[in-house]
Amino acid sequence: MCGIVGYVGKNDAKPILLNGLKKLEYRGYDSAGIAIRNNLELPVIVKAEGKLVNLVEKTNKLNIFTTSGVGHSRWATHGKSNETNAHPHHSDDYNVIGVHNGIIENYQELKDKLTNKKYKFYSETDTEVMIKLIDYYYKKYKLGPIDAINKAIVRARGSYALALMFKDYPNQVWFAKNGSPLIVAKSDDSAYLASDVPAILNYTNKVYYVNDLECGVLEAGKVTFYDLNGDDITDKKELVTIDWKADSADLGGFEYYMDKEIAEQPEAIQNTINAYLTAENKLDFHSIGIKQEYLNDLDEIYIFACGSAYHAGIVAQHVIEDLAGVNVRVELASEFKYRNYKMNPKSLAIVISQSGETKDTYEAMLKAKANGIKTLAICNVKGSTITRDADFNAYTYAGPEIAVATTKAYSCQLVVLYLFALFLARTKYRINKENYYKLIDEVKQIPALVKETIDRKENVQRLSARFTEKTNVFFIGRGIDYAVCMEGALKLKEITYINSNAYAAGELKHGTISLIQKGVATIAIATQPTLIEKTVSNMVEVKSRDGSVVALTNDGNNVEQSSKYQLYIPKINPMFAASVAIIPLQQLSYYVCLNKGLNPDKPRNLAKSVTVE
Ligand code: F6R
Repeated sequence: MCGIVGYVGKNDAKPILLNGLKKLEYRGYDSAGIAIRNNLELPVIVKAEGKLVNLVEKTNKLNIFTTSGVGHSRWATHGKSNETNAHPHHSDDYNVIGVHNGIIENYQELKDKLTNKKYKFYSETDTEVMIKLIDYYYKKYKLGPIDAINKAIVRARGSYALALMFKDYPNQVWFAKNGSPLIVAKSDDSAYLASDVPAILNYTNKVYYVNDLECGVLEAGKVTFYDLNGDDITDKKELVTIDWKADSADLGGFEYYMDKEIAEQPEAIQNTINAYLTAENKLDFHSIGIKQEYLNDLDEIYIFACGSAYHAGIVAQHVIEDLAGVNVRVELASEFKYRNYKMNPKSLAIVISQSGETKDTYEAMLKAKANGIKTLAICNVKGSTITRDADFNAYTYAGPEIAVATTKAYSCQLVVLYLFALFLARTKYRINKENYYKLIDEVKQIPALVKETIDRKENVQRLSARFTEKTNVFFIGRGIDYAVCMEGALKLKEITYINSNAYAAGELKHGTISLIQKGVATIAIATQPTLIEKTVSNMVEVKSRDGSVVALTNDGNNVEQSSKYQLYIPKINPMFAASVAIIPLQQLSYYVCLNKGLNPDKPRNLAKSVTVE
C-alpha cells in the first residue's frame, strides 16, 4: 500500500520526509514524491518514478531549507506508475497540495461534479480528485481548511489517509483519515505524521492514532485534532507509547530485513512468552480483561485472519481443540465477511493480525461484534485499528516487522495461541496441574529450539540450489503439518514466484497426484507421531512416480528410504512442532529468493499492510 509522511518544525523537512519514506519502503511502492516548503515561500514538488533513491537524488539537488512538507510512496491503484500520477498532487493554482493513501471509490462521480465546475485533471488518480474537491469547498465557503476537509470527507466514499498543505497556511500540515492507517506525533519543536510507526521512531515513540473521520493540523511542537463538526477534540485523544527501540526498524548489519527477522525469532518468541507468564510460572489472560465466567460458558471459538495469520489460526485450531476441548472454526476474513453465517452466541472471535490494519480482518471482526460476539485480537502493533475496537488484546512482542513476508510475527502469533489454548484448557479443567506446568515448560523451550533450528541453516542453504530452477513445488502434510505446509508454500511463492501449493497429504489420491512426475519437487512435513506413517506412505507414492521428495521431520525419525533429501529439526512436543518446522521453510524461501537474484524484502505486487479490499 502507499505510505505517507508529513513534517512541520524547526528542522529541515527534506531529510525527515525522505527518511520516513525509506522506513515505509516495506509497504511497497513504484514511485515517490514530496512537497516541501520554507515558511511563506510556495511549496516545491519533487517526484520520481521507481526506487526511492531516484527521489533522493533529485531532492539533493535542491539547495533549500524547508520547514514543512508531505511525502508519499505510491503503490499504483488508479492510474499507471509514472511521474504524473505520482503524489503529491495539487490544485491548479497550488492552493491545496496533498498526498493520499487508500482508494476513493466514488472518485468518478466526484470528478464529474468538479469537471462541471470547470476543474481540469492532469493525472488518472483519485487523489487529484480529492485534492481538487477540498480546493473547491475551501474556495466556495471560505471557512478554512477544516471546513473544506470535512465537507470533502462526507462526500468521499472509500478509505483514505490524507496529508495536505494549504497555500494560506504556511508551517502547517493538515490531515484526515477514514479506513487507512495514520499516526501523528509531536516533539518540543516539531510534529510528524506517518502511515506507520517505523517512519517516526527515530524522533519519538509517543504517538496519537487518528480515528476514522477525524482530521487535524500539525504545527511546530503542536498537534490539534478536530471532529466532523469542526470541534477541537485534542483533549480526548490518548497518547500511546510504543515500546519499540529506535533502532529496531533498522537493518542492524543484515543485508535484508527478512534475514534479520528470521534471526530475531528466538528473542521475539521469548518476549512474547514473558508477557503472559506470571512470577508463579502461571499463565495470565485475565489481565487483558477476559473474565473467568465468560470462559466457563464458552463453547465455540472462531478465528478470522488472512494469509500467514490465517495459517497460524489453523495451527491453533488443532492445539485449542486438543488441549481445551473447544471447537474452533478458522475462516479467511476476506471471505467470512460476505457470509450469512449464524454465529454461536456462546463463542469468542479471535482475530489474528500482525499489522492490526488488515481491512478484511477488521471487517470480519466488526461482523462478529455486530453479532454480539466478544473479540480477542492477537496483534503486533499497539493502538492499531483492530486493537482499538477489539474487546480484548493479546499482543505479540515481535517488534517492528518490515519484510513483506512475515516470519517473526507469525512465530509469535503461534506462541500466543499456544499459551491461550493452555490457559483455556486449565481454566476449563481440561488438563490437570501437572500437565499444565509441563506444557508451560515445553513452550518455554521453544525459543532455544527455534535458535537451534535457525543455526542448522547450512543444510537448507545447500538444498536451496536444487529449488532455484523449479517452477512447481508441492507441500504435503497432515494435521498441524498441513497447516505448516500452507505457510511454507506461501513463503516460497510470495518471494520466489515459484508456483508452490500445499495439499493435505490425504488428498493426494483425490486428484493432485496426477500432477506428480519427474522434476516436480515435493516437500513432505512429518512431525506428528500419530500421522507420520501415513505421510511416509504418501512420500513413497510420490517417489514411485519419479517425484523428488524432501522430508522435513524431527531428529531420529526414519525417512531416508522414502525421501531423496532430508531436513531435520529438533524434537519438540508435536503440538508445538509448527514453531520449529516453519524455520527451514522460511530459510529455504529466503535462499531460493537470493539464488534467483530477487529482493526478499520487497516481492513484486505485494504490500506489507493491506488496508484495501
Ligand atoms: C505473508 C504475509 C501476509 C499477511 C496477511 C495478513 O507473508 O505476511 O499473508 O499475513 O496479509 O496481514 P496481517 O497479519 O497484518 O493482518
